[in-house]
Amino acid sequence: MNVLVTGNLPDAQIERIEREHRVQAHRRDCPIERRAFLESIGDKQGLLSMITDQVDAQLLDRAPGLKIIANFGVGYNNIDVPAATRRGIMVTNTPGVLTDTTADLTMALILAVARRVVEGDRHTRQGRFRFWAPFYFLGHEVTGKTLGIVGMGRIGRAVARRAAGFNMQVLYHNRNPLAEEEEQVLQVQYADLKTLLQEADFISLHTPLTPQTRHLIGSRELAWMKSNAFLINTARGAVVDERALLGALEQGRIGGAGLDVYENEPMVTRGLERLDNVVLLPHVGSATVETRQRMAAMAVDNLLAGLEGRMPPNCINPNVA
Ligand code: DGY
Repeated sequence: MNVLVTGNLPDAQIERIEREHRVQAHRRDCPIERRAFLESIGDKQGLLSMITDQVDAQLLDRAPGLKIIANFGVGYNNIDVPAATRRGIMVTNTPGVLTDTTADLTMALILAVARRVVEGDRHTRQGRFRFWAPFYFLGHEVTGKTLGIVGMGRIGRAVARRAAGFNMQVLYHNRNPLAEEEEQVLQVQYADLKTLLQEADFISLHTPLTPQTRHLIGSRELAWMKSNAFLINTARGAVVDERALLGALEQGRIGGAGLDVYENEPMVTRGLERLDNVVLLPHVGSATVETRQRMAAMAVDNLLAGLEGRMPPNCINPNVA
């Protein structure tokens, strides 16, 4: 069968597909251009897509033989899943293998914003470190503070486990509260969104992007936050109204932010880059050598299963299979 791979996978994974199928691969470190994507999809039965590809009805209409879309990522808001399902196309993602990596980066952002790590690095490189003094470059304590986790899936829970190591009190908000037993194991307490935002010193977002979570954090929610609280986003940019966030930061209504994701990636709302209390990363939550290897292997497992007519291990819409 014919397969389109829109990103640069390790050789070993491309070879696994090539053993059985004909592969057209966009092996570059930039996203495939829309026109090339539309032109390449027509004769394909398999698509291994990146989270930067818009897999929408327009594209699917051009792919009458497509059987499976194996997305390289746990998030799949780039795919119109209902449109794929209506056409009988399986959609898969790569859950689990990036949980710890993303939770690690969340902690890195929490520590970075609280202890002014990036600002301090800039300051030192610029030769501005001239003396030590009792009130020089003070940050905020992380240990013992309250962390509010919005979205208590795999990554949210992994962040809660790490927060326990910092003796943090953890509040969480989720569509469905966890079972009491699990709350006890994780030492977390359920709160409605408003209470969580009002009480937490650090708020970390871990929801998928859906129509319900788009702009979940807007002006009203930012106004509920404490004036010294930090917002951390390693989920999807559009969960936050980025312009509202910029306004809150500029007016000193919240303490700062640590962002790995943006509403209109790779664009970053102008103004955020000027603020010292904001740490900006280029969507690297899962970007470690080990995790990207695991994600590639998992995406190829899913793709091959779908092409062979087996149920892929991580099918999002199993009813079509
Ligand atoms: C994902 O898998 O959805 C991540 O955002 C990729 O880094």
